[in-house]
Amino acid sequence: MKNVEVTVLRYDPDEDESPKYQSFPIEAKKNMTVLDSLFLIVEDQDPTLSFRCACRLGMCGSCGMLINGRGRLACRTKIEELGDKITVQPMRNQTVIKDLSVNMDNFFTNMEKVKPYFVPKEDTDEFSIIPPSSGRREIIDENQDCITCGLCYQSCDAVAIRGNDFIGPAALSRAYNLIADERDGAREERLDLVTEEDGAFGCHSFGACVEVCPKGIKPMVTIQKIKMKKIKRSLGLKW
Ligand code: FES
Repeated sequence: MKNVEVTVLRYDPDEDESPKYQSFPIEAKKNMTVLDSLFLIVEDQDPTLSFRCACRLGMCGSCGMLINGRGRLACRTKIEELGDKITVQPMRNQTVIKDLSVNMDNFFTNMEKVKPYFVPKEDTDEFSIIPPSSGRREIIDENQDCITCGLCYQSCDAVAIRGNDFIGPAALSRAYNLIADERDGAREERLDLVTEEDGAFGCHSFGACVEVCPKGIKPMVTIQKIKMKKIKRSLGLKW
């Protein structure tokens, strides 16, 4: 057991004039996560604390928040890695619904913009299954592990500067997977969609998305590949 102070940025837009910090002392057990500590606060100290979670396994992507200033999944962040004082804030670049729960509509609207689904080619006999061992498979394996937690989006300075119309790292990564898939019938259209004003060329390569991704995906690198594909296509080269 260790005594830890968890400080949460509280805000209820319907009740409060402005956000304010509130501290909760807790007794942390070994291997306790930040998400566990939030549940403990709800059970023992303040049942009105709001946050979002579902799987508690790092799979559903719903417990993203700023923990000691860095975007992390609360269910995969152990208290013992953080010290005796922990500060928890809602994700950036999104509107707070209450406390640590944010409205992710802009994130998912941007995901929809890139047509994040496979479009079969018409009139083709091309074999649709790519063997796992093939080099073609490696290209489209990239980014498949994304759990749409929004941590890359909340960390993105281009979103902060340009606003929520900027498509953002997760949606661009998803788009790249389909653009790089030679079986996809909407590659051309998708490449144009993601290289318009609010697309890949709006990325300034700050790299925060790479730092925070809990799945080790590198959206910034992927976005550079989208830019290269667009340039190659403009020059009439194979892309
Ligand atoms: S609760 Fe599902 S990723 Fe944390």
